[in-house]
Amino acid sequence: MARLLFALTLAAAVADECPLEGCEEAGLMQLQGKKENVVHEADQDRPRRDRRDSRYESYHHYKQYSYGPSPPTRQSTTSEPADPSTTTATPAPPPPLKCEDAEPQAPRNVSCGFVGEKKARVKPLDSDSVIKFIQCNLHFHLGAEHLSAGEYDLDSPPPGTEKASTVTPGKFCSVCDIPPVQLEPYEFEYCKNVSVGNTYEFHWVFSTGAPLVGLRDDGEEGQLGITDGLGGALNRTNNPKVIVRGQACRIINNASLDTEAKIEADYADFLTQWRTPPAGQGVRYMGSTTGDAFNDEVCSPIEVNWHMDTKCCTLSAQAFDRTCKAMYDEGLRDDLKPKGSRAPVSAANSAKVVFPLSEPTCSN
Ligand SMILES: *[C@@H]1O[C@H](CO)[C@@H](O)[C@H](O)[C@H]1NC(C)=O
Ligand SMILES: *[C@@H]1O[C@H](CO)[C@@H](O)[C@H](O)[C@H]1NC(C)=O
Ligand SMILES: *[C@@H]1O[C@H](CO)[C@@H](O)[C@H](O)[C@H]1NC(C)=O
Ligand SMILES: *[C@@H]1O[C@H](CO)[C@@H](O)[C@H](O)[C@H]1NC(C)=O
Repeated sequence: MARLLFALTLAAAVADECPLEGCEEAGLMQLQGKKENVVHEADQDRPRRDRRDSRYESYHHYKQYSYGPSPPTRQSTTSEPADPSTTTATPAPPPPLKCEDAEPQAPRNVSCGFVGEKKARVKPLDSDSVIKFIQCNLHFHLGAEHLSAGEYDLDSPPPGTEKASTVTPGKFCSVCDIPPVQLEPYEFEYCKNVSVGNTYEFHWVFSTGAPLVGLRDDGEEGQLGITDGLGGALNRTNNPKVIVRGQACRIINNASLDTEAKIEADYADFLTQWRTPPAGQGVRYMGSTTGDAFNDEVCSPIEVNWHMDTKCCTLSAQAFDRTCKAMYDEGLRDDLKPKGSRAPVSAANSAKVVFPLSEPTCSN
């Protein structure tokens, strides 16, 4: 019943929407509304392109562009009409996307004053859009993938921090203000290859194409329908819009969290809720998927609306492990350990404009 109510609320929220709102995406809406015209005009100027070229195909190779294993996409469960010349094997992966051909990338330098050089074609979706989207995943990277000067910008974790993972690290938050007792090791039960003192960048992935499990009565009570990897973003549509909320947190050991109730309160549903940044602290920008398979030469062909907290958050090891338990209970396994980080992309690969998530942060 609760799920049904939630679904109805969601439907009402969508129906109530003023048609003029969300016209930030005017360019895209226009394109969708007049698709045939656009194609027609384009075709007058240029030779017709094969619609099944690598960029289109690449959606079906989403797994390759994500940081880890994904469930099968729609493509793999659909049987195409038999064509003797092509039925022999799975299609070859598309060639890597050269950054000069790519749309703006992520992670970027989110410091005030950093200006990108690549023009985004649409404005990033804002905070209000998130409630209409469906979460399909939560994962975390070792270190921050993004860079924020004076916050998450250190090249290595604090000296003495246990090295629990061998994946490519990102940037780290300082723990100079943390008393040593809060940097004591913690025995994680559910999270793998993580340790106190380190920084992890958490990514809550929301998609228009995520499974409806949590919104329907066929799921277990409280089940979200989130899965390992990014494949869930493509569960019901091949060209979803994706919003990722990102937050870089340093991990402390809070020994005063000595009861389940205190841990539960401190955890505060981190599985689905980030620590909402205060007004002026969050930014949004057009970028891409991340992960250490990409750099400033090989870029990601998947667009993402990024919402990023520009400051370091502090997360207790107890709440972190409680989060991993919640992920485990949802069926996640691979995402219980950190992913490698992609280095912040160059200005040439960053979108020109960064928008405030809510209030203006700076006059970029
Ligand atoms: C979509 O998600 C549901 C629920 O997780 C799953 O059972 C189904 O196999 C998924 N379908 C595809 C095509 O990935
Ligand atoms: C990030 O941007 C800030 C502001 O422009 C700049 O001071 C800083 O040097 C940049 N960091 C890197 C690593 O490019
Ligand atoms: C994770 O930890 C295990 C056990 O300590 C270790 O064998 C493994 O190499 C680690 N994995 C990574 C990716 O660092
Ligand atoms: C540790 O947990 C207690 C109990 O929830 C809380 O009051 C305190 O602020 C926490 N300490 C830190 C450093 O986060």
